[in-house]
Amino acid sequence: MMLLYIVFIQYTVQTSTTPCPNAPWCICNEENNYAHCINANLSQIPKLPSYVTSLDFFGNRLQLLKRSTFTTLGTLKLEYLSLAKNLISMAKSYALNNLLYLRLLDLSHNSLMTPGVAVTVIYSIRSLSFSTLILNMMSWRYRRSDIIVNLLCNAYTGNLTHLSLKYLYLQNLSLNEISKCVPHLHFLDGSHGSIKSVSPGFLREIKELNLQNNYLAIGRGFFGNKSNCYFPKIEVLRLDNNYINEFDNRFSCLDSLKILTLDNNLVRQISNGTFKYLPSLSILSIASLCSRLRNIDSLAFQSETLYFLNLSGNGFEFIDQSSNYWFDKDNIFKYSPNLTQLDLSGNIINPYEDVLTRMLLSLKSLQKLWLKNCNMFTLPTGFFDKMPHLQEFVASYNNISAWDGNTVFGDNCTIHTLALDSNSISIVEESFFPLTSLNRLTKIYLRLNHFSCTCENLWFRNLIRKRPSLFADVFPGYRCYSPPYREGTYLIDYNPANTECNNEDKVFLIIVTSISVIGIVVVIVSSIVYRCRWHIRYWIYLSTTKRRGLVYHSLTEDSSQYVYDAFVIYCDYDRNWVRTQLIGKVEKESGLKLCIHHRDFKAGQLIIDNIAENIAASRKILLLMSRDMLSSDWCLFEMRIAQEKFLNNETDTMIVVMLETVSKELMSPSLRFLINSTTYIEWPRKQYEEERFWTEVLRALQ
Ligand SMILES: *[C@@H]1O[C@H](CO)[C@@H](O)[C@H](O)[C@H]1NC(C)=O
Ligand SMILES: *[C@@H]1O[C@H](CO)[C@@H](O)[C@H](O)[C@H]1NC(C)=O
Ligand SMILES: *[C@@H]1O[C@H](CO)[C@@H](O)[C@H](O)[C@H]1NC(C)=O
Ligand SMILES: *[C@@H]1O[C@H](CO)[C@@H](O)[C@H](O)[C@H]1NC(C)=O
Ligand SMILES: *[C@@H]1O[C@H](CO)[C@@H](O)[C@H](O)[C@H]1NC(C)=O
Ligand SMILES: *[C@@H]1O[C@H](CO)[C@@H](O)[C@H](O)[C@H]1NC(C)=O
Ligand SMILES: *[C@@H]1O[C@H](CO)[C@@H](O)[C@H](O)[C@H]1NC(C)=O
Ligand SMILES: *[C@@H]1O[C@H](CO)[C@@H](O)[C@H](O)[C@H]1NC(C)=O
Ligand SMILES: *[C@@H]1O[C@H](CO)[C@@H](O)[C@H](O)[C@H]1NC(C)=O
Repeated sequence: MMLLYIVFIQYTVQTSTTPCPNAPWCICNEENNYAHCINANLSQIPKLPSYVTSLDFFGNRLQLLKRSTFTTLGTLKLEYLSLAKNLISMAKSYALNNLLYLRLLDLSHNSLMTPGVAVTVIYSIRSLSFSTLILNMMSWRYRRSDIIVNLLCNAYTGNLTHLSLKYLYLQNLSLNEISKCVPHLHFLDGSHGSIKSVSPGFLREIKELNLQNNYLAIGRGFFGNKSNCYFPKIEVLRLDNNYINEFDNRFSCLDSLKILTLDNNLVRQISNGTFKYLPSLSILSIASLCSRLRNIDSLAFQSETLYFLNLSGNGFEFIDQSSNYWFDKDNIFKYSPNLTQLDLSGNIINPYEDVLTRMLLSLKSLQKLWLKNCNMFTLPTGFFDKMPHLQEFVASYNNISAWDGNTVFGDNCTIHTLALDSNSISIVEESFFPLTSLNRLTKIYLRLNHFSCTCENLWFRNLIRKRPSLFADVFPGYRCYSPPYREGTYLIDYNPANTECNNEDKVFLIIVTSISVIGIVVVIVSSIVYRCRWHIRYWIYLSTTKRRGLVYHSLTEDSSQYVYDAFVIYCDYDRNWVRTQLIGKVEKESGLKLCIHHRDFKAGQLIIDNIAENIAASRKILLLMSRDMLSSDWCLFEMRIAQEKFLNNETDTMIVVMLETVSKELMSPSLRFLINSTTYIEWPRKQYEEERFWTEVLRALQ
C-alpha cells in the first residue's frame, strides 16, 4: 500500500494532467484517478470529479477537521488522502466518518496538531480497509515512544499494516509496546529520527523495518535468541547511517531476511561468518563506510544465498601490499557461490594487478560488476576472459582513457553491456574493440567523456552512425571538447571536409612512406658505396680519363716528358720508411725525383685525377708492398690504377719492393698476378745487405 502511495505521488509528477473542473487550482487525472491540490492555500476541500480515488491536499490551510469538511468527498470512493502540511489544530469526532473506502491517511507535517487531535482524527475512520498511517515530521517533542504507543492504542488502529514515523524526535522506540497496539504491522518506517535505543520486542508480522538515519547501535540478541525470534517474518531490514560499530554475532534469528542494508555505520571490520546465519539473505549492502573498514576476514561474506553485494564507497584498497587494509584476495568471495551482482565502486583497484581476477575468480555466476570511481586508468587486462558469465561491466567515473582491446576482452569475453561514461576517453580507436567483442556488445555507455572531433575519431563516428543503438546513452550526442573551435559540438555531427582527413592521412602517409623509403635507400646505397667506394672511384676514374683523352700513351719514347722518375705507391704505415730511407737514398743521393702522394699531390684536385695525372707523369711505379698495404683500400685503389698502366703493356714500369714477407694467399688474384709477373726486391732483414738493396732499387729505377 505504501508502495502504491509512492507510485501515486510519482505519477502525478510524470503524466500530463488537467485542471479539475470545479477547482482550477487543483490538478485532475482521470486515467490514474487522482486529484492534486498542492500548495494552493485552500481552506476547504473543493468538489472533485467522481473518478477521484486519491487526493493530495498537501500544503493548504485546513485548520479544523469536521465531518462537513469532507462532505464533498462523500460521494467518492476515496482511498488515499494526504492532508500533510496543513494548519490542522482541531478535529471533531466523526471527521473522517464518511470516507468508507479510506486505506491511507497522511497527517505529516501539521505542526499545530497535538497527539490528541491526531487520535480524534484517526479514531473517526470507519473504513475497514484502513491500513496505512503516515505521521512523519510531527513536531511532538517527546523523546519516548509512549506518545506513539498511546496514540495508536487510543485511536484503535488494530488493523494497521503500514506505519510511517519518519523525522520524529523519538529517542527510544519500544517495539514491544507498539506491537501491542498494531499487532499486524508489516511495514514500519522509523527512519531519520533520533532513535538511540530500541527495546526489542515481537513484531510477528513485520516484513520490512526501516531504521535508517538514527543513532542506533545494536547489541547481541537484538533480533531475539534461539528460542524466541522477534521478527520471524522480516524480509527487509534497513539500518544504514547509524552508529553500529560491530557486526559480529549480530545477525541471526532473521530466517526470512532477504535484504539487509548497513551502509555508513562505524564498523572497522567484517568477521568470519557474519552473515552465515541468514539463510534467505539475497541482497546485502555495506557501502559508504568511507575508509573506516580496514579488515575483511576470509569468510566474511560466507553465504550460500547471497546474490547481490554492495561494497561501494568504502575506500578500501583492494590492491597488493596495502599496509592499512587487510583482505584475503583468494578467498574473499570464495564462499559466496550465488553472488551474481557485485558493486565494488568507490574502492581502490589497480587494473594492472591480478588482484581483481583472484578475488572474483571463484564467482562463476557473477553477471554484473560495478567498478565506478575506482581510480582506474585503464580496463583490467586478462580479467574478462576468466569470468564466464559476466554480462555487465560498469566502470563509470574513472580516469580511463585507453586500453588494449585484445588483452582486455580476450577471446571469451561475454560482456554485452559496458559503461564507461564520465571517463577521460578522447579518442576511441579501432583497437579498443576487437571485432569479436564489438559484435557481442549490445550497449555501450560513453557520455561525459572528453571526445575530440578530429580525424582520429572518424572510425568511432562511423561506428556510432552505423550502430546507433549500440550506444545506449548517445542521445542527444557525445560532445567534443577539442579542438577548441569544435568544443561543444556533437561527435556524430562531425563532418570534416574530405580533404581534411583523407589528405591529411594520405599526405602524411606519403610523406612518412617516402621518408622511410628514401631513408632505407640512402642507407643501402651508402653502405654499398662505402663498401665499394674504391671500385666506384676507379670506375669514375676510368670514365673521366677516357672522356678527357687521358689514356696512357706509350711512355718509352721520350723520357723528357716525365716529371717524376717514379710514382711511389705505399701505405700510410710505411710512411716513415719512405721519409727516412727511400727519399734519403733515392732522391738526395741519386738525384732521382719521386712522386710521393703526401708531398706532391696538388691540393684542391680530385684524388683520382691526382693519381692518374701523377702516374701518367711518372716514368716508373714503385710499389712498396707490406701486409698493411693489403688491408688499405687507398693503396689498393692506387695499385689498380697503376695496374692499368702495367697492363698497358708497360710491364717494365712496375717495381715491387717487399718491405716484409707477404704471403701470396692474402693477395687478391690481380695483385698476385702482378707480383708473379714482375721481379721484386726484398728489403733485407740484416743491415749489411742494405747497400745491395739500394743498388738494385736504383738500377731498376733508371
Ligand atoms: C499561498 O500563500 C502564500 C503566502 O500567503 C503566497 O506566497 C502564495 O503565492 C500562495 N499560493 C497560491 C497558489 O495562491
Ligand atoms: C479489522 O478488520 C476486521 C476484518 O477485516 C474487522 O472485522 C475489524 O473490525 C477491524 N478492526 C478495526 C479496528 O478496524
Ligand atoms: C531510552 O532507553 C535507554 C536504554 O534503554 C534509557 O537509558 C533511557 O533512559 C531511555 N530514555 C528515555 C527518554 O526514555
Ligand atoms: C530469549 O528471549 C526471551 C524473551 O526475550 C527470554 O525470555 C529468554 O530468557 C531468552 N532465552 C535465552 C536463552 O536467552
Ligand atoms: C577466518 O577464517 C579463516 C579461514 O577458516 C581463518 O584462517 C581465519 O583465521 C579466520 N579469522 C578469524 C579472525 O578467526
Ligand atoms: C541465488 O539467488 C537467487 C536470487 O536471489 C535465488 O533465486 C536463488 O535461489 C539463489 N540460489 C541459492 C542456491 O540460494
Ligand atoms: C550501492 O550503494 C550505493 C550507496 O548506497 C548506491 O549509491 C549504489 O547505487 C548501490 N549500487 C547499486 C548497484 O545499487
Ligand atoms: C588521469 O590520468 C591522467 C593520465 O592519464 C593523469 O594525468 C591525471 O592526473 C589523472 N587524473 C586523476 C584525477 O587521477
Ligand atoms: C576460451 O574458451 C575456450 C573454450 O571454452 C577455451 O579452450 C580457451 O582456453 C578459453 N580461452 C581463454 C583465454 O580462457
